[in-house]
Amino acid sequence: MAGQKKNFPKWLADRARHVESVLDNFLPEETVPPTRLHEAMRYAVLGGGKRVRAALVYAAGEASVVSADSLTSAQGMALDHAASAVEMIHAYSLVHDDLPCMDDDALRRGRPTVHIQFGEAMAMLAGDALQPLAFELLAQMPIAPALIVQATELLARSAGSLGMAGGQAIDCISVGVALTRDQLQIMHSMKTGALLQASILLGGIVAGASSPTRTGLESYARAIGLAFQVADDILDVTSDTATLGKTAGKDIAGNKPTYVSLLGLDGSRELLHALRDEAKAALLPLGITGGRLLDVADFIVQRDR
Ligand code: IPE
Ligand code: IPE
Ligand code: MG
Ligand code: MG
Ligand code: MG
Repeated sequence: MAGQKKNFPKWLADRARHVESVLDNFLPEETVPPTRLHEAMRYAVLGGGKRVRAALVYAAGEASVVSADSLTSAQGMALDHAASAVEMIHAYSLVHDDLPCMDDDALRRGRPTVHIQFGEAMAMLAGDALQPLAFELLAQMPIAPALIVQATELLARSAGSLGMAGGQAIDCISVGVALTRDQLQIMHSMKTGALLQASILLGGIVAGASSPTRTGLESYARAIGLAFQVADDILDVTSDTATLGKTAGKDIAGNKPTYVSLLGLDGSRELLHALRDEAKAALLPLGITGGRLLDVADFIVQRDR
């Protein structure tokens, strides 16, 4: 297990490189008309990002079979499609999150945001176009049609009004509002948790996880999804713009309710650690005592960007 931890950064970097080359293939070329839109889509998706959601798809896929080697090549290909799909939905959510009508951010992944680079109309449309492309990729997965239906329903629900988009709506109307702890948890679990959760469960679905495995993955995913946004809230306060690749201190400047504004830094860190432990504990009944899902839990807590 110690060995796995040691080589986790390499595994994550390998997965990130791999999904980026797959994404590169799936995205329309910049030379295909409408070229400006395709340029904006490629700019939004490629060249940066930690690729945590893609990594979770692969990690959950590997954890759902006896060993990573026992994934069939069709399952491996389907994992590529699922990982690309969640990264496209995620990229679209960031493009829209950065728009002036939302968080009004000029910097993302160390570069000007999509609307700064391409204008607001192209930024909106790039997001609009990435979303159906993600579902097209799921539809093309070389696995049993019943599993494709499950995957599609899961990703659709996690991105919609009961998931990411809904959480973003709550975020927009909560500026300057002191949310209760329950309300904040709901907002964070929806706007960020839902897509992370879907990434993990998609890995399980594609790899044909058994029903008990799926139940364990669900508990892990609920805790990890929330933990990710708790860490994001903390980093907004403790990190700097150069490290984050996005403007630090935006939550206070935008008067956003966050875990830091509710619990303070120490309280938020305590919660983050508790969520990590909860996530890891959910894997124990599955017999997962090593492996990438545990490493990702540690990474989410320890990350500096
Ligand atoms: C940032 O997500 C937005 C949230 C949902 C918290 P990430 O921190 O995963 O952003 P990238 O993909 O690494 O840029
Ligand atoms: C974003 O939350 C959640 C999304 C669905 C994009 P934030 O607004 O905190 O994300 P950052 O800090 O801009 O990356
Ligand atoms: Mg936001
Ligand atoms: Mg934002
Ligand atoms: Mg943030």
